[in-house]
Amino acid sequence: MTVRRSVVVGCGGYLPEKVLTNEELAQRLDTSDEWIRERSGITQRYIAAEGELTSDLACAAARTALDAAGITPDAVDLIVVATSTPDETFPASATVVQSKVGADNAMAFDVQAVCSGFVYALATADNFVKSGQAGTALVIGAETFSRILDWQDRGTCVLFGDGAGAIVLKAEDGQGNATDRGVLSTHLHSDGRLHDLLYVDGGPSSTGEVGFLRMEGKEVFRHAVVKMADVTVEALEANGLTASDIDWFVPHQANKRIIDGTAKKLGINGDRVVVTIDRHANTSAASIPLALWVATGDARIKQGDLVLIEALGGGMTWGSGLVRW
Ligand code: ACO
Repeated sequence: MTVRRSVVVGCGGYLPEKVLTNEELAQRLDTSDEWIRERSGITQRYIAAEGELTSDLACAAARTALDAAGITPDAVDLIVVATSTPDETFPASATVVQSKVGADNAMAFDVQAVCSGFVYALATADNFVKSGQAGTALVIGAETFSRILDWQDRGTCVLFGDGAGAIVLKAEDGQGNATDRGVLSTHLHSDGRLHDLLYVDGGPSSTGEVGFLRMEGKEVFRHAVVKMADVTVEALEANGLTASDIDWFVPHQANKRIIDGTAKKLGINGDRVVVTIDRHANTSAASIPLALWVATGDARIKQGDLVLIEALGGGMTWGSGLVRW
């Protein structure tokens, strides 16, 4: 019996031109390169130019992913954009991307799960593909977090950056076991009682303004290591696999210490972990597809490799995905 799988056939990314280093931040804020590097692993972040919108970043990433896949925009029938920083309150940034890339035959919508957004978007697209409602899907994570940061709050503004990453999924038949190419499983969770640990203090229905990111860093850290390790174990167990089967662990890039703590808990060696936090900082929903783009671009991730992704974000939301590349 064959099963329908969502196979990754292309990967792309985009980073804005402007680099903001820790040293530059230290010139205008009571912080230091040493503090930021020691606590988070970050040395620099990319910042979108004035007038450069989330949809612009998303489109650039989408185009590179479509080129890599050798697929023309008119063949795309689903676009899911994971973002917490849409161009406008509505319409969805995905529909803006649709018109800018010329994917006229697609349905398009956004998914909002903050830093877990890409995992949620992947799960959504995979289910559309598996049910037969879509055959070719563009899954994008894109953020301009620099626009929702309080640049006076040294506890948060040093941690985030802008960017976008994208993958193209295509329906293919598989055998229904873990040797298949494609998305093998996704596991998603949320707990709305943890709202106050990480949120933006504004919005259309509350203040009428966009607001700024607020975070209880220590508490987020504590939940992150435990929940991300648990949800990856859930993914492995559901597929009858162990951590030693994983070729590449591509975690959400929130903090190098969270990444190291989670990898250690799982027993995954550092040389199998893709890390971009040092250069990209935390780009929220864009961090995993950007890391996938980097690690496919330098030929670390190759066809047939087993790739484990996981993330945790505001909500709180968290999730994992297991993908045979
Ligand atoms: N520069 C210098 N000093 C700072 C800075 C800064 N940028 N920020 C905070 N401090 C100070 C604090 O004021 C505090 O000073 P005090 O002791 O005099 O009060 C001291 O440094 C220690 O602050 P803590 O908040 O206790 O530092 P901690 O070791 O917890 O590190 C950090 C803070 C990096 C935010 C950490 O808690 C963290 O990474 N948490 C996870 C948050 C995260 O990753 N969020 C991303 C979104 S969620 C996600 O993507 C998973």
